[in-house]
Amino acid sequence: MPVISKMYFMTAICFLVAGILVGLHMSMTRDFAPTGAHAHINLLGWVTMSIFGTFHALNPRGAETRLAKVQYYVYTGGVLMMTPALYLLLTGTPSAEPVVAGSSLVVFAGVLMFAAIIFRARGSLGEAGAAPRAAS
Ligand code: HEM
Repeated sequence: MPVISKMYFMTAICFLVAGILVGLHMSMTRDFAPTGAHAHINLLGWVTMSIFGTFHALNPRGAETRLAKVQYYVYTGGVLMMTPALYLLLTGTPSAEPVVAGSSLVVFAGVLMFAAIIFRARGSLGEAGAAPRAAS
């Protein structure tokens, strides 16, 4: 498995732990104000990062490029800034709004970079991950 896939899966599981902790805290306190932060930690963190990691594992050719590495840091950095700021914004800290706005754009830039990774790889998608043919 490419290094970038391992990095994505290790980061993704940390976001799942954080997302579930926020969910459990909401359930125990019956304060659902941070629902949006919980959903974004789980979906941008756990779900999307796992999909990115899986894509690289299935298409290892493009996984060792500089673009893949830069994309990981841009996307992960954006989600790391955005989700705590969104939590603060939704729980009564309006001054966190510019951080949410700025980091959302960083996350979007990371997504556009991943689009470039997919389109660059389109000619060889699935080749390295294809199962060998059974002998007949
Ligand atoms: C033990 C794990 C989890 C707990 C305790 C939990 C708890 C909660 C709670 C209390 C809410 C608020 C419900 C409300 O506003 O009435 C919520 C909403 C939500 N959760 Fe979770 N959650 C968990 C895991 C997850 C995971 C793994 C995901 C996604 C991969 C997720 C995605 C969402 C979404 C999208 C919402 C918003 C739903 C809406 O507003 O309609 N949750 N969760």
